[in-house]
Amino acid sequence: MKSYFPVSRVEGTASRQAHCDLPEGTYEREMSKEGFFGPAAFFHHRHPPTGWTDFTGPLRPRAMDLNRLASGVSTPWSAPAVLSNAHCAIRYWRMTNSMEHLARNADGDELLFMHAGTADLYCDFGHLALEAGDYVVLPRGTMWRLESGGPVDALLVEATNSSYRLPDKGIVGHQAIFDPAALDTPKIDDAFLAQQSSVRSWQVEVKKRGDVSVITYPFNPLDAVGWHGDLAVVRLNVRDIRPLMSHRYHLPPSAHTTFLAGRFVVCTFAPRPFETDPGALKVPFFHNNDDYDELIFYHAGDFFSRDNIHPGMMTFHPGGFTHGPHPKALARMFQQSKPATDEYAVMIDTRDPLDVTAHGHAVEWAEYVDSWKGSK
Ligand SMILES: [Fe+2]
Repeated sequence: MKSYFPVSRVEGTASRQAHCDLPEGTYEREMSKEGFFGPAAFFHHRHPPTGWTDFTGPLRPRAMDLNRLASGVSTPWSAPAVLSNAHCAIRYWRMTNSMEHLARNADGDELLFMHAGTADLYCDFGHLALEAGDYVVLPRGTMWRLESGGPVDALLVEATNSSYRLPDKGIVGHQAIFDPAALDTPKIDDAFLAQQSSVRSWQVEVKKRGDVSVITYPFNPLDAVGWHGDLAVVRLNVRDIRPLMSHRYHLPPSAHTTFLAGRFVVCTFAPRPFETDPGALKVPFFHNNDDYDELIFYHAGDFFSRDNIHPGMMTFHPGGFTHGPHPKALARMFQQSKPATDEYAVMIDTRDPLDVTAHGHAVEWAEYVDSWKGSK
């Protein structure tokens, strides 16, 4: 940890353990540095910090229903960005036909998350059959295309001028959460070799500095007969994630980190048992997380801390205000009715503020800021 002020105190009526044993009738709020890694203070409030009666101005929490974006988008570079900054661009791609051209991102690594549908990925490294719940990391410069007989909805997360890496799994070791052996790479298989025989000209749409250039070949450039090295497209399905949990302590979202980029992290919420210790919080704690903007894409299941959110929606909580569970979830702060969560969601926390684009605003659910009403 950096050299912050050496303060470690307990003041007034307070618990000595975060997220546990709160003084009777209080609500805990965490205020912290460096996301959940730096120094932090835990306040015990008499009222839920989300009990506002009015919230005006640009900072407010937002929700977007990405299912309302246009479908039939044939290339990833035409997929609308909904949020972006200099280090990260989040697009939502609703494809209905196979790609006619190859794509190449020269701006940074691309993370493709398959929300719905199935597809065959053909790329420089070979062939991979994709299904819902697949994360695919496409290193910057990879040529690729998707072939599909039906609609595909996918989240595209560009690490602009950066690369994806795996997080340091620290004291739980490399094999925890997901084993590196669970990462798949494309195969030079019969399907890949068969598509090389297509006799037509092929175009590669290269995105660089946000602009698309088109390079035309009189042959199919996905014509490698083999490759070797320690760089490749990798795929991980969310069902292969075995989340960390503690029966006595609500772990922060950072315990669910799946990928790291230069200026943001990608976390996955996967089904896990609820905490069982009577004094342990069973819902996310109220927090500011002032150093990060947070967004969550809801993939599947029943989202236990949010009301009126369904798969294909995204919530965006810019750093600077306190957020936490919705009133219905808050009522189950210490007593859950189910033994386990049943949700898959992708969280992206960015170190730099994100801008909502016109496409994002167009599918916004404007009343989201009022969805905490009733927190008293
Ligand atoms: Fe948060």
